[in-house]
Amino acid sequence: MSHLRPPTRETDPAATATRVRPGASAAAPAGDPAARTTAPDPAWAPEALRPGWWRDGVLYQVYPRSFLDTDGDGHGDLPGVAARLPYLRRLGVSGIWMTPITASPDADWGYDVSDYLAVHPDFGTSEDARELFAQAHEQGVGVLHDVVPNHTSDRHPWFVDACSSRDARFRDFYVWADARPDGSPPNNWVSMFGGPAWRWHAPTGQYYLHNFTPRQPDLNWWDPRVRRAFRTILRHWTGLGVDGFRIDVCQAIVKDRELRDNPPATAEDRTNVRLRGQRPVYSMNRPEVHDVLRDWRALVDRHPRRPILLGETNTHDLQALSRYYGAAGAGPGSELHMAFNFRFMGQPYEAGPLRSIVAETERVLPAHAQPVWTLSNHDGSRYVTRWLGGDQRRVRGALLLLMSLRGTAMLYYGDELGLGDAPPVPLADARDPLAHGGLPGKDSRDPCRAPMPWDDAPHAGFTTGTPWLPAHDPRVTSVAAQERDPDSHLRFTTDLIALRRARPELHRAPMELPVLADGVLTLRRGPLDCHVNLSGTDVRLPGGHVLLATDRADDGTTPDALRLAPWQGAVVERR
Ligand code: GLC
Repeated sequence: MSHLRPPTRETDPAATATRVRPGASAAAPAGDPAARTTAPDPAWAPEALRPGWWRDGVLYQVYPRSFLDTDGDGHGDLPGVAARLPYLRRLGVSGIWMTPITASPDADWGYDVSDYLAVHPDFGTSEDARELFAQAHEQGVGVLHDVVPNHTSDRHPWFVDACSSRDARFRDFYVWADARPDGSPPNNWVSMFGGPAWRWHAPTGQYYLHNFTPRQPDLNWWDPRVRRAFRTILRHWTGLGVDGFRIDVCQAIVKDRELRDNPPATAEDRTNVRLRGQRPVYSMNRPEVHDVLRDWRALVDRHPRRPILLGETNTHDLQALSRYYGAAGAGPGSELHMAFNFRFMGQPYEAGPLRSIVAETERVLPAHAQPVWTLSNHDGSRYVTRWLGGDQRRVRGALLLLMSLRGTAMLYYGDELGLGDAPPVPLADARDPLAHGGLPGKDSRDPCRAPMPWDDAPHAGFTTGTPWLPAHDPRVTSVAAQERDPDSHLRFTTDLIALRRARPELHRAPMELPVLADGVLTLRRGPLDCHVNLSGTDVRLPGGHVLLATDRADDGTTPDALRLAPWQGAVVERR
């Protein structure tokens, strides 16, 4: 694979010249048609990262491999992210989370780390990373680094050593167990990606645990050396300038010490549990994970910049979710600062189910816990396809809902454009390990990871080379086209984020959920009502001053009664 080649940016002066330096023009490289869309806005005053940037602002998930390629190798890179900081700033986001940028043989696209301290050569160098973080800070944008503590790559030197003998120095960094008398795996655990979670290692005569692909052996968090190693990793990235961490598979890193069998799934369990046939009682969500998170929290709290912790808390039990924030005591909590609430995006796009999950979250999460809401990410179908069936008329209602929830909103790159999934990638060209059907019912994640459409240049302005995944068709949508169009989703999202900043009630005030009409979801935030009509018919609601509406003609009006066509929404200041 091309990404195993030696780093080119070190040796290629032309590539180095494309790097955007602080104070220099933030536009894309000369000759890059995308440059048109990224001219710096003279109105921006560089500002330092504000305290509370993660609490009060809107965050944005960048999939760096698909964002912008500056060296023509077909893979997005860190200078590409840096070149688009002005775009993100214009949109109004206050922080980014980048999926892993660490060295990896890419059996699971960066989520199989072979060196936690090195930058993947496809993305650039540690110097590129440092420079990106510095530039982000100058523009008031925080950066979250994705750390993967549940497993490593099978090429990681720890695992290579662990495989060399039962007495190897790093053997206990991983979860090894003897076969049962009949030779079968030590327990019934199944991999999140399908099939048994154990792989037989013939040379040393034991099984090793892999909760994902066999090329992602699980680390053994009962070994204190693993804990020490990760403290070093967190310190390293904090030293390079990151403002926090997104913790991959946060809920599963510590396993049951006795490796007990998981109980079978029942008819009442949710689809994802039934799909795997068992409840992950002993392989995930163990109480001891909280010790690790408390330790990490103490570590980041000691740092002068106070980096923050955001967990990929893949639990659908909101009581369990609330425990990841830790005890409040006198301060803001003792574990994660933020935890994804994936129950929300798992609901159908209907007023009833969405209202109940929001209400339950408000009821269950303690006051110090900052909820995190998202519509899409790199692990599943985008909201425009999954929720809206590709119907562009519905896009703004969903965005309005996201931005009106109490807590932090996380956009996935392209959400602001109303980007849906790209067409399926033929199996022969598939990149995602899930594409090969290891877990029936789980589709390839390639379509939600297609390159960002910047403009109408070849490959939508993403690369001058051959993109690692086919680009979206820029005739359907692109940043350039939406920046030109005053009535675009991009302009709407930008205005919505600005409104959220101007009226902090939108993200901060307690939420009430009055039912004002059938099929309409209303989030009452102090004097503001955010309505989205999910009923499929026209509705009339109490009037007021319309601060922002999905139908932009209504912006700034003061109707006696608010009429909303199907899928439309508005933020209204009540009389
Ligand atoms: C997380 C990541 C996903 C990855 C898995 C294994 O769920 O978001 O992309 O495949 O962990 O690391």
